[in-house]
Amino acid sequence: MTPPVHFTVDYVINPWMDPTVPVDTDRALTQWLALREVFESLGHTVHVVDPQPGLPDMVYAANGGLSVGGTTIAARFAYPEREPEGDHYAEWLHTSGFGPVHRTDGIQEGEGDFLVVGDVILAGTGFRTHRDTHAEVATLTGLPVITLELVDPRYYHLDTALGVLDDTNIAYYPPAFGPASRALLADLFPNAIIASDEDAAVLGLNLVSDGRHIVMTDAAPHLTNELRAAGYETVCVDLSELLKGGGGIKCCTLELRLSNGDPIGVAT
Ligand code: ARG
Repeated sequence: MTPPVHFTVDYVINPWMDPTVPVDTDRALTQWLALREVFESLGHTVHVVDPQPGLPDMVYAANGGLSVGGTTIAARFAYPEREPEGDHYAEWLHTSGFGPVHRTDGIQEGEGDFLVVGDVILAGTGFRTHRDTHAEVATLTGLPVITLELVDPRYYHLDTALGVLDDTNIAYYPPAFGPASRALLADLFPNAIIASDEDAAVLGLNLVSDGRHIVMTDAAPHLTNELRAAGYETVCVDLSELLKGGGGIKCCTLELRLSNGDPIGVAT
């Protein structure tokens, strides 16, 4: 996770961002700290990346890379405003014992568009991550990568329209996907939880699950109830200040998956 010390909204690269709406950076930091504490209270180790001045979106650490099965890939960002973040995350992953850190030839925004469900990777494209990188990621990780087409600019990253609940199930918002991808998702995940318009509109699907506890926004009561009814324990947090940049809980969290379960070589 990367604290939102330098968080502002002064450029527009997604429809959520409006530089005329004031941002309270202290409030963002307080909310972020509370999220970090929730992860720690659930027994997760949180590693903190150094925030960089001039990179206000660096708080959205999920976009920095993908770490799965001992393979680590750093991002190549679509917009020049975020492009330097790729090297910062690559450097952090490398110095933290994740090397060798791979870089794709094409543009891809890490866990914003690559979500791991068990032994499969779901991959978004349409706004940020280029489709060609799906094959690159399949080769680098050795895992099957399933391409999903995003069609609504409000849901520009896969993690804004789909949340991984455990190794076999997901929650998602069908209207964010093209017809073929909708049919594919319905086929692959017949028991998926379907988010409402209201759930999606507060980035309710932008959640982090350990398979049992789901950390999610406190602003999506319908989705929260559905997840509880399905047997998950939900932990709801207020991350409303970070929503002004177009991100939520998952966006702020890059999950580190090692092949051997060893702790990584850094402490914070
Ligand atoms: N302002 C950031 C951007 O548009 C938000 C990124 C949100 N991250 C995510 N994983 N969806 O790039």
